[in-house]
Amino acid sequence: MQCNVSHVAFGLFFLLYIVAIFYYDPFINSTIRDSSFRTPSRIHRHTFSSLLSDSLTRSEMAESDWPKKDNRRFLHVVYRVGDLERAIKFYTESLGFKLLRQRDVPAEKYSNAFVGFGHETSYFAIELTYNYGVTSYDIGDGFGHFGIATKDVYKSVEEIRAKGGNITREPGPVEGGTTVIAFVKDPDGYTFALIQRSVIHDPFIQISLRIGDLERDIKFYEKALGFKVLRKVDNPEKKYTIAILGYGEEDETTALELTYNYGVKEYSKGTGYAQIAIGTDDVYKSAEVIDLVAQEVGGKITTKPGPVSGIGTKVVGFLDPDGWKTVLVDNEDFLKELE
Ligand SMILES: *[C@@H]1O[C@H](CO)[C@@H](O)[C@H](O)[C@H]1NC(C)=O
Repeated sequence: MQCNVSHVAFGLFFLLYIVAIFYYDPFINSTIRDSSFRTPSRIHRHTFSSLLSDSLTRSEMAESDWPKKDNRRFLHVVYRVGDLERAIKFYTESLGFKLLRQRDVPAEKYSNAFVGFGHETSYFAIELTYNYGVTSYDIGDGFGHFGIATKDVYKSVEEIRAKGGNITREPGPVEGGTTVIAFVKDPDGYTFALIQRSVIHDPFIQISLRIGDLERDIKFYEKALGFKVLRKVDNPEKKYTIAILGYGEEDETTALELTYNYGVKEYSKGTGYAQIAIGTDDVYKSAEVIDLVAQEVGGKITTKPGPVSGIGTKVVGFLDPDGWKTVLVDNEDFLKELE
């Protein structure tokens, strides 16, 4: 009997000891915190953003690092095609995309389809839009290409050609370099660059647009969107400069490539390409910064921050100083849309 009592006492002490460690050990506690909040710095972000609006002046806002602290991520690019089924067929059979979701909205006379290389919670996607009755679009000369990473460009090109795809630049190393690339045109005339590179996560690695003033646009994308300049290449011989901008390293996330051709100040945007969508934790806070940066370097807000009628997803839409459109989409609302 006495023996049993001491066992129970020991058991109780041991239990208390474990509980005490669990509550007071900073290492265990921080591990618990980290695993229960997927983004622990979120809390600090909110504190930061409320400080921002309460105590900083407008000009300090324009210099604010909210866009860099925000949870930004490339979500998708939107453009128009003249035949949705034809586009889906080409993207899935020749380029390796998966059809992710599709929707028909007869009341507004359009349908759309999302294609990508994986689930939209962590992969970039293309939103193809078909407007009833419109069978072709002017691509314009400002849109450059979409870049897709592939381990073997020669093999990819062979497969695309076998399926009737149009190769507009045969595979081979880039001029003055070693990276093997090729260009393919989709059935609507949008160019895809196949770039030989090992794929770490998402093969959709870039969107390339031409712009009329590189320094001005870099300023806009850094300050208003929180992008980092990942790489800049000047090629005086070919008379162009490119800048690659993004939220992570070039081989980790989709990036925006801006091309400046010496002396060319303007491009036609055409009617096909629409916009890039990027996630944010706060469309209102983001809009304040965009507005102030736009006053300084150009560009303007075209869709005021707030919920889109019908679906309720909060967005803010705006043009860069060159006229290219971006839409910031509330991260939580976007996840709800995916459900
Ligand atoms: C290739 O180009 C031809 C001629 O423009 C066109 O008829 C055909 O549909 C294109 N094929 C694809 C898969 O885009």
